[in-house]
Amino acid sequence: MKDMRTVYLNGDYLAEDEAKVSIFDRSFLMADGVYEVTSVLGGKLIDFDGHRVRLERSLNELDMQKPEGFDDLLEIHRELVRVNEIEDGLVYLQVSRGAADRDFMYPDPEDVKPTLVLFTQNKPGLANSPAAAKGMKVISIDDIRWGRRDIKTVQLLYPSMGKMMAKKAGCDDAWMIQDGFVTEGTSNNAYIVKGNKIITRALSNDILHGITRAAVLRFAREAQMEVEERSFTIDEAKEADEAFITSASAFVMPVVEIDGVSLGDGTPGSVAKRMREIYLDESLKKAV
Ligand code: PDD
Repeated sequence: MKDMRTVYLNGDYLAEDEAKVSIFDRSFLMADGVYEVTSVLGGKLIDFDGHRVRLERSLNELDMQKPEGFDDLLEIHRELVRVNEIEDGLVYLQVSRGAADRDFMYPDPEDVKPTLVLFTQNKPGLANSPAAAKGMKVISIDDIRWGRRDIKTVQLLYPSMGKMMAKKAGCDDAWMIQDGFVTEGTSNNAYIVKGNKIITRALSNDILHGITRAAVLRFAREAQMEVEERSFTIDEAKEADEAFITSASAFVMPVVEIDGVSLGDGTPGSVAKRMREIYLDESLKKAV
């Protein structure tokens, strides 16, 4: 049987089966909520501050109030990691606009307070995943998501559908395409490598501004590698020397096949492997 976790709900630490949210919660009825996923390695949080800052931005973009406890988020994360004895894993955080009778209009923030939920996921050996040695296979699918993908909302049905389409095709994930150009993976940012140059789509409302992306591009530049922030087509990707993805849960993960086309010799490329190593080393040094 799975161990009972301690989770956080609106100020309380509770056993996971005791934490209950209203059926009127707007994240349940309207997907009116935002979230963050922060990884834990060696019991410490990776890139915590980046996730906190992006959460604040998501809340602002949606005129959502900061939940009570916002200023204590680091302590709450740490307490959950401690009581659940997480060595390697993830902390999931969600803020919704709160519980109000169903209405398209936002409730008055004076009457309705945001819901804040956090829970952990234990993932022993997260940084040593065998998938990193093997590399991922991706398919391409149309990007039919809404136009504010820079806000990290809980509207994740299409990304879920994309992962299921990938699974059905015997692959690991899907890259989404808009006007011929790759936007991002279903839950990660997408990159190709040509020679020594790392190419990834520039920031806009079309993609999530990945916290791992920001760190990886900074480390790449510090290591004197060339970085080009521009859009690339799926055809250009299939002809690239290498490809990879980044996210808080996968770190840097090589991509070895796109729509059945092998990249290079079909094994993880040297740039992806190097960036994974640098990212893990440097992030661990700054982990809190
Ligand atoms: N996903 N793009 C999308 C659409 C994402 O959902 C994510 C993160 C990223 C990478 O962002 P970051 O480096 O900040 O994790 C890019 C998380 C991990 C998830 O939904 O589980």
